Amino acid sequence: MQKIGVIPGDGIGPEVIREARKALDIVSEMHGLEFEYEEFPLGTAHYLDTGEVLSEETLQRLSKKNAILLGAMGDPRVKPGLLEKGVLLRLRFHFDQYVNLRPVKLYEGVPSPLADSKRIDMTFVRENTEDFYVGIGARVKKGLSSNSFDLKRRAYEAKFDVGVELEDEDDLAYQMGVVSKTGARRVIEFAFQLAERKGLGLVTAVDKANVLTEAYGLWREMVEEVSAKHAVAKEFQYVDAVALHMVRNPERFKVLVTPNMFGDILTDLGAALQGGLGLAPSGNINPAGVSMFEPVHGSAPDIAGKGMANPIGAMLSVALMLETLGHEKAATDLEEAVKSVLRRGDTRTPDMGGKSTTAQMGEAVVSDLKRK
Ligand code: NAD
Ligand code: IPM
Ligand code: MN
Repeated sequence: MQKIGVIPGDGIGPEVIREARKALDIVSEMHGLEFEYEEFPLGTAHYLDTGEVLSEETLQRLSKKNAILLGAMGDPRVKPGLLEKGVLLRLRFHFDQYVNLRPVKLYEGVPSPLADSKRIDMTFVRENTEDFYVGIGARVKKGLSSNSFDLKRRAYEAKFDVGVELEDEDDLAYQMGVVSKTGARRVIEFAFQLAERKGLGLVTAVDKANVLTEAYGLWREMVEEVSAKHAVAKEFQYVDAVALHMVRNPERFKVLVTPNMFGDILTDLGAALQGGLGLAPSGNINPAGVSMFEPVHGSAPDIAGKGMANPIGAMLSVALMLETLGHEKAATDLEEAVKSVLRRGDTRTPDMGGKSTTAQMGEAVVSDLKRK
């Protein structure tokens, strides 16, 4: 019996998780898998009702689970970042889910924004606990110019263009990115092992080492160190060039390993290439701990409550969860059912140009599974 913590969350989160759960129930029945679920009402409503974002007790309970399935966090009623940082990032950090695994696949039958349909099948291994996500930063106010960073002076000396005339000379903000040897090494190792295991011949290491020479210089050293131990080809690419190549010749990429922030941005581009944010899955993985699976998209307040959300990203996240929990056959069956629904193309939510509802899309996958 494996235990799953379910956090439907905000906006369309509960809508897509409902469909993902239906598919999970069928596929586990078919494969004789037993899961025990516990739902956690985290999110904006819970915060507004109780003032609590995420308690120690909830973390304790979640730490006893084999995996977590999450919908989305974020709501225009509260300050940006409160729930995203307070729940989502807190969980990723607390459980040290250092890999953010984001496969980008263009399935047959899915309209792609690229003119001629290219082979798109790449996997992002995004670092998930460091970089600009560590939360080190401050606003430097008047009177603090003797601050050890003395950022203003250094900024001016470097002729750093802060973009606007500073009203108050000392009024500026900074936020730092951190790359550690251990943090970089472990996620790069994961990427090379994945490429090796799946027979994918190339790892692209993404950075901006031509500008952020300290942090991504260290990142590059770790790529050199780790790649020397593996029989997989590697290349270095700057993040801006990766954005270009993803559109111009996406077929060249197999596995990409990225620092946290670049991975965040590039995987939304990836989601667009694979037919839309509604289709993209992800896993926050700690290979030796509690992993958490969630669609790449957010709470989509613009379509929440309208039955328009595409549940495919959430369903494919369930497939990733099954694979990570060791149920490969069940994962493949679920992915195949999704594929055949997409290939048929008669059930499509509005983001894919159709008129089907979230529930109809979910039902289509469920009935395909039942036909097996
Ligand atoms: P978003 O992903 O919620 O939405 C971006 C656009 O994509 C919207 O037009 C939305 O309607 C559409 N979209 C997203 N998911 C869809 C789906 N399943 N089906 C159809 N269309 C879909 O990003 P945003 O608008 O930048 O952010 C909204 C809120 O979500 C913010 O509070 C943000 O911080 C949060 N957010 C949370 C997560 C997460 O929980 N993992 C991820 C990204 C953003
Ligand atoms: C994502 C989201 C999150 C991130 C936010 C909501 C904290 O954009 O999962 O891609 O930046 O990682
Ligand atoms: Mn994102």
